[in-house]
Amino acid sequence: MADDPLLAWRPRFPSLEKCVHLISHSLGCVPAKAEEDLAEYFDLWSTRSITAWDEWIPEVSRAAARIEKIISAPAGTVAMHQNVSTVMSVLASCLDYRERPRVVYESLMFPTVSYVWKAEERRGAEVVLVPSSDGKTVDADAVCAAIDERTIAVPIQHVVFGTGFIQDVKKIAARAKAVGAHVILDCYQSVGTIPLDVVDLGVSFACGGSVKYLCGGPGAGWLYVRPDLIGQFEPRVTGWFGNAHPFAFTMPEQTYAEGVMRYLGGTPAIAALYQSRAGHAIIAEVGVSRIRDKSLAMTARAIALVDEHGFTLNSPREESRRGGSVVFDFVGAADVCRELNRRRFFCDHRPGVGIRIAPHFYTKAEELDLFFAEVQRIRG
Ligand SMILES: Cc1ncc(COP(=O)(O)O)c(C=O)c1O
Repeated sequence: MADDPLLAWRPRFPSLEKCVHLISHSLGCVPAKAEEDLAEYFDLWSTRSITAWDEWIPEVSRAAARIEKIISAPAGTVAMHQNVSTVMSVLASCLDYRERPRVVYESLMFPTVSYVWKAEERRGAEVVLVPSSDGKTVDADAVCAAIDERTIAVPIQHVVFGTGFIQDVKKIAARAKAVGAHVILDCYQSVGTIPLDVVDLGVSFACGGSVKYLCGGPGAGWLYVRPDLIGQFEPRVTGWFGNAHPFAFTMPEQTYAEGVMRYLGGTPAIAALYQSRAGHAIIAEVGVSRIRDKSLAMTARAIALVDEHGFTLNSPREESRRGGSVVFDFVGAADVCRELNRRRFFCDHRPGVGIRIAPHFYTKAEELDLFFAEVQRIRG
């Protein structure tokens, strides 16, 4: 990768020069322009007071439009929220479990999502966890087999957070559709590193955030709703920004907005939307398919280094199942991870699977060598 064209974007992330940043599956690097965008937000607040809202409110739709582009969603199908947990709570509050109580998902689910659905058991839901035979992968046939006419929702991850395994979303979505259940796709571990076409995947809903590969920081989560479903639900978890006429202050009932805005709650987190602008724009500029090509080459190199060092690989080798991260383990990995972070070789560790690293479009190939050399140095 001597003449890697994606490194042209690296200067937009000056902090990369002060560390080895292999943590984009958890926290994308901050673009320098995010500071300018936040300054613009602040300036509006300080100079225009209440009239800042004239600029701030359209930012909600602008952020949604940026996400629509990245996930290939039609215009007017994305609403911004602060995080995936909130999105899941909003969607759960749309459902009626009397006829169809079952909520089916993988046992390798990101825990926050499971917490939301387990809490729904107090409202009559019945969670069906599909076990993983190896603790790393999910058998799509097993998920499909658990989905039947009693199933209302199938909130699955596109890429399993712990191991970077890409699920067979289309297969699961087709099965869900055949029995009238809704797939809610958590794309947090794929958005910005794997090309996404939520329409083609055939899911009812999709969600994610901007913290990871989108380099947009916390607070800019998003929800996609399939166009024909938008008007079909009235979320109980709601607020005045979900109202057809928020500034009419009608009482006492909610009158839901016609479009996707009906899924909003209270006052949006405007600063986070400004903060997310630069990351979203850069990802769209670079293009996710080019990011994916580079990611596959870089993760192949990382896997070769894992093998060379004799570590246990816990993420997939096959390209078609490999997400943006490489996960590997050895005795004492948690302590080594802590020391790596102290030395500014940024990565993380998850119990049971080990150290997770993710190169991104701005990563230099030699940083992978530097990283593994540092692991070796710490191990002694
Ligand atoms: C797959 C997945 N879902 C959800 C989350 C986080 O959810 P929230 O946005 O509610 O913090 C993460 C990681 O932080 C994740 O990897």
